[in-house]
Amino acid sequence: MIIAIDGPAAAGKGTLARRLAAHLGYAYLDTGLLYRATGWRVVAAGGDPEDPAAAEAAARALDPADLDAPALRGDEAAQAASKVSAVPGVRAALLAFQRAFAHHPPAGYGGAVLDGRDIGTVVCRDAPVKIFLTASVDSRAERRLKELRRRGIDAIPARVLQDMKERDERDMSRADAPLRPADDAFLLDTTDKDADAAFAVALGHILKIAAG
Ligand code: DC
Repeated sequence: MIIAIDGPAAAGKGTLARRLAAHLGYAYLDTGLLYRATGWRVVAAGGDPEDPAAAEAAARALDPADLDAPALRGDEAAQAASKVSAVPGVRAALLAFQRAFAHHPPAGYGGAVLDGRDIGTVVCRDAPVKIFLTASVDSRAERRLKELRRRGIDAIPARVLQDMKERDERDMSRADAPLRPADDAFLLDTTDKDADAAFAVALGHILKIAAG
């Protein structure tokens, strides 16, 4: 079983994916982390994440240990991720790993949950469950602000909103695998839903599909 969860930044994909994976006994892959680690690798080496050659080389050199860096959670890494993710060579370099994880999750797991931007449209077009999670840009910016403050980062609200809009625009307008719902995706708007309510709706949808 493969569950694909896509949507814009801070829509609650990670929280939902993690909870579904724990509940169902499935393995979880945060694919955004692969792009963040790629972008961060370029930035840390003093490079430009929009330079296709540097970005692709970083994606090809990615090491599992790179995924543990705390800096990947920050907004600088998020912006770098959004930039390298527009480079087709980067997407191609990360595709095989994501597909292998989806189809052959680590031992002991009954399936896989992947979250990202193109899981239902490109990485796992055959996934039986596809969920596209959205929320208004204002509520997503508010959630991101709270999350940053929880981590002790004193962010400026207008700046967080602006970053979110820039990232949405870049992720939706890139030529290769732009952010959009798959034709067969279940749309779940979390603007007025907390994590518990979103989980309940998503699980209900999955159980309906599993029952045939
Ligand atoms: O989900 P996130 O915020 O960690 O993602 C960071 C960036 O990585 C996002 O702005 C676009 C890119 N990304 C992507 O292009 N495709 C994915 N499957 C996941 C993330």
